[in-house]
Amino acid sequence: MYHRPRIKRKNQLIRSLVAENRVSASDFLTPLFVVGGHNVKEEISSMPGYFRYSLDRLPDFLDELASHDLHAYLLFVKVDDGLKDNTGKEAWNPDGLMQKSIRAIKESHPESLLMTDVALDPYSSYGHDGIVREGEIINDETLEALVKMALSHVEAGTDWVAPSDMMDGRIGAIREAFEARGVDNGILSYTAKYASAFYGPFRDALDSAPGFGDKKSYQMDPANSDEALHEAELDMAEGADMLMVKPALAYLDVIRRLKEHTQYPVAAYQVSGEYAMIKAAAQKGWLDEAQVVAESLLSIKRAGADVIASYFSLDYMKMQKKVHG
Ligand code: PBG
Repeated sequence: MYHRPRIKRKNQLIRSLVAENRVSASDFLTPLFVVGGHNVKEEISSMPGYFRYSLDRLPDFLDELASHDLHAYLLFVKVDDGLKDNTGKEAWNPDGLMQKSIRAIKESHPESLLMTDVALDPYSSYGHDGIVREGEIINDETLEALVKMALSHVEAGTDWVAPSDMMDGRIGAIREAFEARGVDNGILSYTAKYASAFYGPFRDALDSAPGFGDKKSYQMDPANSDEALHEAELDMAEGADMLMVKPALAYLDVIRRLKEHTQYPVAAYQVSGEYAMIKAAAQKGWLDEAQVVAESLLSIKRAGADVIASYFSLDYMKMQKKVHG
């Protein structure tokens, strides 16, 4: 035998030396959930260990993230039912919770990189990402709302906007509005966002489950991956800066295809259901949480993700510290 691959697996030192992939703090986008009120830190029932914060409690969490070198966020807000309607107009209220949160975060953590979710579902009385008429999601009217929403985030001081709604043409509409105003904020496009049952816990977190039907007329069909490349072509042509695949673990092939197809940074979103599955099994003692989290994140990286949005960012950093000192 002239080839003994096990030589390079003999101990941790040699394994680390030849490791092709590593996940580190700078890879992460940490999702944040903000709610109104004071002194609120409430655990999301289907996401054990993950919390919604009121703005007065958020800085402590951001400090903790910063102490583990986590400085990039993906921000979502939970909107009061009374503020929801079919136009989503609260989404561009300059004094809305999102806009207040952006100002507060950039004030308390000016060195952070803030990306804000642009989609109507948390503001929609129907829980849909678009304006609804006769049971249909109306694309082009929704674009006008998304543009107003994105501009209001920029006005409040966000760094990047992250359109997550899968309406046709939204990247172009937002980019055009930015250019017209001389705005050079980044756009993280949810390029290949699948109609996935893995979003269940997130919809609990924001109370944003669709009131009727499902999201299959706008989010992608899990059967397809050519379509993801087509969406990527459109997003690049329309002026996106980064492309995202979502969920991650069930779509590793799509991450890989996108990475090979584009010269853009590719992000992947390890979504709420992926988090919940691991947490639940770990709580039952059926899986070793630290190892399964590390392995899942590594698989996303190995598939080709340059950026990982994950609810495990902080847990992972803490667990790494424990393992490597
Ligand atoms: C909605 C949005 C969703 C997520 C991010 N933005 C849910 C949905 O499309 O219903 C899911 C994130 C997660 O599950 O962690 N625009």
